[in-house]
Amino acid sequence: MPEDLLFQSEIKEVVRQAYTEIDTGAGRPAAQRLYSDVELGALPPSAVDWALGVGNPVRHAGLQPGETVLDVGCGAGIDTILAARAVGPSGRAIGLDLLEEMCDRARTHAQAAGVAEWTEFVRGEMEDIPLPDASVDVVISNGVINLSPRKSRVLAEIRRVLRPDGRISVADLTVNDELPTELQTNDAAWAG
Ligand SMILES: C[S@@+](CC[C@H](N)C(=O)[O-])C[C@H]1O[C@@H](n2cnc3c(N)ncnc32)[C@H](O)[C@@H]1O
Repeated sequence: MPEDLLFQSEIKEVVRQAYTEIDTGAGRPAAQRLYSDVELGALPPSAVDWALGVGNPVRHAGLQPGETVLDVGCGAGIDTILAARAVGPSGRAIGLDLLEEMCDRARTHAQAAGVAEWTEFVRGEMEDIPLPDASVDVVISNGVINLSPRKSRVLAEIRRVLRPDGRISVADLTVNDELPTELQTNDAAWAG
């Protein structure tokens, strides 16, 4: 087996461990910076408490009734639920997450939000999205792609599952300069 020079498996394990161990999200004060009062008011309180994102991708996605939307790294489902509301029962919202615990939380939240009938949560990896080619109109993602040691692969997978005229709306962290070695090799910095 070729040597894993980019420490991909170690990074993936660090991320998995970090998100398995947390027992809540960033909480309402953090969510209030990213979402409007109307958006927050339409969500189950626990879905708001579990918000872990860095932006509001649904706001910029231009979702239309009847569309199929995929939320990459859905966490406890806050954006998947907002997306499900926007596409309505004639559409479909799919949340994808590495962790079954997150998918379970998201299912409970979608049920409480009344969107469960046209919303599903799938356990899987963004580097190998378990969906067919050209099956999604819009991909959203919030604070997730930066966690991957294989970001180009994630973008290629997003391109593959999107229909030819599909769209993406992503909120994420980017790096403009070289990071100091002590940050590049810091587990908490990768996972956070
Ligand atoms: C920062 S949280 C963001 C969650 C959600 N998007 C939100 O805004 O609340 C990152 C999420 O990505 C998931 N994740 C990490 N690596 C992943 C991977 N390789 N594939 C799919 N999901 C992943 C984690 O389990 C976690 O739920």
